[in-house]
Amino acid sequence: MSKAPSLQLDSATLADEYDRLGTRQFNHGLQLLDALDLREGERVLDIGCGTGRLTESAAQRVGARGEVLGIDPLPLRVERALQRAQGRFAARVGRAENLAEIADAHFDVVYLNSVIHWIPDQQEALREAWRVLKPGGRIGFTTMPADVPHDLHRVLHALIAGDPASQHAEIGAPNKLTRESTATLLASVGFEPTLNEIREFDDAFDNVDDVLSFSRASSFGNFLSSLPDPHVARLRERLAAALELHRGPRGLQLTRRMIFTAARKPLAH
Ligand SMILES: C[S@@+](CC[C@H](N)C(=O)[O-])C[C@H]1O[C@@H](n2cnc3c(N)ncnc32)[C@H](O)[C@@H]1O
Repeated sequence: MSKAPSLQLDSATLADEYDRLGTRQFNHGLQLLDALDLREGERVLDIGCGTGRLTESAAQRVGARGEVLGIDPLPLRVERALQRAQGRFAARVGRAENLAEIADAHFDVVYLNSVIHWIPDQQEALREAWRVLKPGGRIGFTTMPADVPHDLHRVLHALIAGDPASQHAEIGAPNKLTRESTATLLASVGFEPTLNEIREFDDAFDNVDDVLSFSRASSFGNFLSSLPDPHVARLRERLAAALELHRGPRGLQLTRRMIFTAARKPLAH
């Protein structure tokens, strides 16, 4: 069953931390923009734009004749996106499931980078994306695969499996997809698939606190939020020990896997 993350746990600190540590999402996001082949003069919608780092790259790619809008439900992240934009792209508070302020068939490209696994009603979000896309328009997203977890999530799952008090803690995102369910979801809205593959990213962290800060900032405060502080402190100690097995020349080395998917709205619509 789909679950809604809390949108009330974000803070100025988490938003700033995301801006510092979210280079990981930015780097795989650049690959998503490559796959979507943005062209000069195109109109692009970045759903779940966060602090706008990738939105800025999209704006550079489409140039001054193009148009880029970022939307995100978290006001503090939109504030930072607007500071970054300096008028080169627009950003406003909004949710994927309700794009009512956007006219039908306005955009050439819609993308969601590391966002769809947070959305409770993914089909409604994709229906809205379909509506605002021109016929022949492209959609793309990246998301964490439910069946091929990140190294960090494997380690955390193993640590909390034997601890009844921690078992229901949020450690990833509530609405993960597989390559198969991604294909089914896109087809259910009418999109024609052009890409559906898993890519790996080798991250490196200085220490366990960097890992925890990255996870908290990326989840806008949802990561482990249901656990009382003493539980989190205990889990932190156990995680620090477990992550030593992942220490390599670049620090704590952890692989992330991401589904990369892209599709087209058929021309006949
Ligand atoms: C991991 S961040 C990714 C931010 C950005 N796309 C990037 O690549 O850096 C996930 C973002 O999804 C946003 N989000 C969560 N629920 C959403 C929803 N229902 N509609 C749109 N965005 C949502 C969050 O506010 C957050 O900024």
